[in-house]
Amino acid sequence: MKAIEIADGIHWIGANISTTDLFEGIWPIPQGVTINSYVIKGDKIAIVDLVRDWAGASTYLIDELKSLGISPKDVDYFVMNHLEPDHTGDLKAMFELSEKVEIITSKKGVPLVEAFYGFTERVRAVGTGDTLDLGQGKILHFYDIPNVHWPETMATFEESTGTLLPCDAFGSFGAFKGSIFDDEVSDADHKFYERESLRYYANIVGPFSNFVLKAIEAVGTLDIKIIAPSHGLVWRGDPGRIVNRYKAYANYMKDYAEPKITVIWGSMYGNTELMLRAVLQGIASEGVLTEIFRVPQDNISYILASVWESAGLVFGMPTYEYKMYPPMRDALTHIIHKKAMHKKVFRFGSYGWSGGAQKEFDGMIEKMKWDIVEPLEFQGGPTDADLDLAFERGAALAREVKQIPIKSKEFP
Ligand code: FEO
Repeated sequence: MKAIEIADGIHWIGANISTTDLFEGIWPIPQGVTINSYVIKGDKIAIVDLVRDWAGASTYLIDELKSLGISPKDVDYFVMNHLEPDHTGDLKAMFELSEKVEIITSKKGVPLVEAFYGFTERVRAVGTGDTLDLGQGKILHFYDIPNVHWPETMATFEESTGTLLPCDAFGSFGAFKGSIFDDEVSDADHKFYERESLRYYANIVGPFSNFVLKAIEAVGTLDIKIIAPSHGLVWRGDPGRIVNRYKAYANYMKDYAEPKITVIWGSMYGNTELMLRAVLQGIASEGVLTEIFRVPQDNISYILASVWESAGLVFGMPTYEYKMYPPMRDALTHIIHKKAMHKKVFRFGSYGWSGGAQKEFDGMIEKMKWDIVEPLEFQGGPTDADLDLAFERGAALAREVKQIPIKSKEFP
């Protein structure tokens, strides 16, 4: 691709990544991901965030620079908002192409530049309140936005164009399908990017939601006209749309959620599955939406996205050797690690010669602040009375979830 102008003197460069690799070595990206960098040109030239040498990204970046008539040796500053290697992987190679370039990063970024790439010279620390004048009216302002996504993360704001470059914040999975801009994609594609931004958030940024809210507050006073994150669309038509989305995502771990139930289940011989049907009928009797995942078949990345926004969760799994069915333990470990707090939760399942899953489940979720509907366990196969109870518990959970929408509609 050629560089694309997003504002006067500011161009997108970067890469549309299409690969069978997993993002962070964990998360599937069947629809791709973008790594966005930006060139800002005054009398001096800055590149804000770089790429890693992944699926040809480094070559694309240099070619896009060339399309602007810029060689890496012409660049004065690499502004590193965030040191995670998806945005810095080619820093060493790029740095060595220029004798004058200076690395600009946050105070907490400086030791990471040394740890990852060994550079201690031509590295400058900046923080909230600091500026960098590129000439020709292009002045960069820096804002610390720690933990969105790592502790050293900062955002860069170019004042004359009102362009905010916040790195991971306001980012998304999903490659570009033709345009990089929010005001040039169809409604159907907006729905696609919305799901992919939720999945990105739940997989990557979720545990740091309080910091996301602080970051939104920190940049909230700026006259932002364009939001140019390092993954996903550039928001110039309606930047408020992605900010509000992120506000909602951050509040999902507090007291805001969508009125739906994520059902996660696994069954060895079909007995837990029999009860699942009764639970689902109970939920359906109250007209509440469900999203259903089976473990280990379904990928945790998609389960997390659903869990993140749902007011209610159902876990259906048997006991396995005195403990939880292992694929469910794996899923629950991810859910707890990502801090999907404040849910309404029901768990059920069968056991053979001994129980034990419930005890382990209770211990794992102790700190999650979940409201628990009384669990249901049974030996062997469920009786008719068990199935009636399962229907009732499913319906009870659904009634609790239906209380949530009132709050939901008030947000943001
Ligand atoms: Fe896109 Fe936290 O790196």
